[in-house]
Amino acid sequence: MRRLTTPITLLGTALALVVTLGGVACGAGDDASDATTAPETSTATETTEDAEPLAGGLPEEIAGFSEWTKLNREPIPPKAADPHLGEKDVFTTATPAEAEAVDGGADRYPDGTIIVKSAVRPDGDFVGLVAVMRKVRGLDPRHNDWEFVEYTRESRESPFEVIARDAVCWTCHEVAKPTDYVYTRRG
Ligand code: HEC
Repeated sequence: MRRLTTPITLLGTALALVVTLGGVACGAGDDASDATTAPETSTATETTEDAEPLAGGLPEEIAGFSEWTKLNREPIPPKAADPHLGEKDVFTTATPAEAEAVDGGADRYPDGTIIVKSAVRPDGDFVGLVAVMRKVRGLDPRHNDWEFVEYTRESRESPFEVIARDAVCWTCHEVAKPTDYVYTRRG
């Protein structure tokens, strides 16, 4: 029985070290190891951030967005104009029927609708960009009451920060005005 205590203590110390070092040496190294050495190091990575709590810096209203109605069927590939943004998915609080009505140009999204586009960086396995459209009744009648805000972060551990909003977004989204400023159709 006695002999067991030493290895267990050692194991405990090793684990504590892994946790401590992991916290200090966060960022690129950690992201790379997720993709390349996942099978061996799975115990270390699973304890960190694979569940989906809302990342720091994002608004509470979008918590759990990846469980919402998904508009695109396949991930949206990067465009030539924004090669660094990676693959994107689009989610909404609207029901599939509401989204389809907008696709046909027959309706608009209801007040309170939120649409989130998330992009996974091509060189990492974390979401690096979150763009949000939120329809707040009376907020901006000229743009169908949508509020536009975009957030980015450089690593899995860093909090998101607002990088752009509204006017920057209208230039492109104006094109999608017939479908309530929303490009993505329900796939
Ligand atoms: C260069 C043109 C362009 C600009 C500028 C732009 N968008 Fe978009 N946006 C698009 C396109 C195209 C899509 C369709 C999905 C895709 O290809 O990424 C899209 C999709 C979206 C979506 C998913 C809903 C939809 O319309 O399909 C959101 C949310 C969004 N953009 C938010 C924003 C916000 C917030 C800004 C400003 C900070 C912004 N966009 C600026 C072109 C643009």
